Amino acid sequence: MLENFSYCNPTKLYFGENALENLTVELTKYGNNVALVYGGGSIKKNGIYDEIIGILKSAGKTVSEIAGVMPNPTIHKLYEGVEIARTNKVDFILAVGGGSVVDYAKALSVSIHCDEDPWEKYYARFEEPACEIVPVGVVLTMVGTGSEMNAGAVITYPEKKLKIGHVFADEKIMPRFSILNPKYTMSLPKSQMVAGIYDMFNHICEQYFSGEDDNTSDYISEGLMRSIIHSSRIAMKDMNDYEARSNLMWAAAWALNTLVSKGKSTDWMVHMLGQSVGACSNATHGMTLSAVSLPYYKMIMPYGIQKFVRFAVNVWNISPVGKTEKQLAEEGLSAMEMWMKELGLATKLSQIGVTTEMIDDIVKGTLIMKGGYKVLSKDDVREVLMQSM
Ligand code: NZQ
Ligand code: ZN
Repeated sequence: MLENFSYCNPTKLYFGENALENLTVELTKYGNNVALVYGGGSIKKNGIYDEIIGILKSAGKTVSEIAGVMPNPTIHKLYEGVEIARTNKVDFILAVGGGSVVDYAKALSVSIHCDEDPWEKYYARFEEPACEIVPVGVVLTMVGTGSEMNAGAVITYPEKKLKIGHVFADEKIMPRFSILNPKYTMSLPKSQMVAGIYDMFNHICEQYFSGEDDNTSDYISEGLMRSIIHSSRIAMKDMNDYEARSNLMWAAAWALNTLVSKGKSTDWMVHMLGQSVGACSNATHGMTLSAVSLPYYKMIMPYGIQKFVRFAVNVWNISPVGKTEKQLAEEGLSAMEMWMKELGLATKLSQIGVTTEMIDDIVKGTLIMKGGYKVLSKDDVREVLMQSM
């Protein structure tokens, strides 16, 4: 391991079937005016909303609701939430939902007391907050993004065709606590479950496929990827398998809570492509990633062949005997492709509503990262996208 780093993750996790019992004691640590943030209504259908409202009322909290946070939350929804939070003098935010709701809550936490436009400050200029940050707690209902244990918040500006993630440096933006009950994820439709599985897997790939040094983080990543593949196959057969669903929930948190990036430069180009696709199509995040991954990894493979060989052998159990590096690396990617098809993931952009007319805007909105095995030109971006159609 070659690079220097610091590591701190202050999010307290409560994991398991009874995890919500800990909400009452957590609530005592924060102010009385709570903003309850949630999505389009899944928590009302599966009963989680009633349970949480009951706990908030018993704790004597004054609750204002910010409902209807959409998948890929928009800046306009953020402005609306800021108004509600200011009017109600909110001093604590409880996010109940998936990555979109949790990201939104974090963006809200740094915007309530911000006297500048949050899009300009956080998503155009990528500045850190200078204002008071309202604390966020999480009850997670969808697994994949890792937002429950990190300081990332992705916001979309539909008119600008931009979907931008800001990973804040200040640990105060990480949720103060996250309640992870695998049972809460069981009402997810299969398409969302698999999108989340690919999302967490790709978070690890984004960090794994960088650097050539011997790094403990890569060994941890290989273990996490093996666990995700294993549990995903069980969950595909039985979506109610608690052991598999709980392993997926646990793996997702570790996939993006900054641990496995330590000592590494990290890539993140699949996410940059996927986010730009999301900005133009509003497609499900995990599917935007699966649709561009194979052409992208085929393009960069020659520049990081050793890691792709290692991926084939250590993650996909491919025997190296009698094979060239190129053969092994290709077999690793084929194994990944077969697994993706087993899960029913989109492997083509045309499957998620992208048309060739959108490609110019997607190329324009794709940020270029420099930490992977190949720094892409805009022409490379276009080529990956065209090969993904
Ligand atoms: O809105 P509701 O009605 O709750 O329905 C949601 C939504 O339609 C539904 N859902 C969630 N939990 C459910 C459920 N339906 C039934 N039962 C449940 N238990 O699932 C749909 C998708 O939810 P969403 O929160 O959008 O999914 P996800 O968790 O994948 O979050 C996606 C967002 O996170 C960002 C993405 O870009 C995207 O905007 N990301 C955040 C990251 C971070 N903070 O580090 C990293 C990721 O790479 C990602 O970019
Ligand atoms: Zn992701």
